[in-house]
Amino acid sequence: MKKLIIINGPNLNLLGKREPNIYGSLSFTEFLDTVKSKYVNIELDYYQSNIEGELIDKLQEVGFSYDGIILNAAAYTHTSIGIGDVVKAIETPVIEVHISNTFSREEFRHQSYISPNARGVILGFGLQSYELAIQSFI
Ligand code: DQA
Repeated sequence: MKKLIIINGPNLNLLGKREPNIYGSLSFTEFLDTVKSKYVNIELDYYQSNIEGELIDKLQEVGFSYDGIILNAAAYTHTSIGIGDVVKAIETPVIEVHISNTFSREEFRHQSYISPNARGVILGFGLQSYELAIQSFI
C-alpha cells in the first residue's frame, strides 16, 4: 500500500471560512474524508501547521520513508528558503500544490522556493489540485 501525506502550511486550517471566493467553502477535513473514502488503496496522512519550523520538521520526518508528499506550503511557498532546502534534501518526491492559480494573482505569489525541487506543480484547480496530485502517485 502506498503511503502518502498531505502537508498544509499557514492559514490552510481556515479553509471553508477563509476568503471562500478564492479558496472555496469546503473545510479541509470534509474534503479529506471524501478523498479517503475514494482512495481506499492508499494510506493517506495529513498534517497542517502555521509554523515554518514545524513544517520543516515534518518534511524531514516523512521524507525518507513515505512514497509521496503533497505539499501546499501556502504563503511560505513564496518566502521560505528553509522549506525549499528541505524539499531538496529529502528523498521522497514532493508535488507542490496550490488551490488558487497563483500566477493570476499578485506578483509576489509568482515566486516559489519549492518548484525547482518539486517533482511537479499543480495549481488553480481548487481542492481538486490535491486529488490530481494523489493520482500522480498511483
Ligand atoms: C495558496 C496560495 C498562496 O499564495 C497563499 O499564500 C495561500 C494558499 C493556494 O493554495 O492557493 O495561503 O498556497
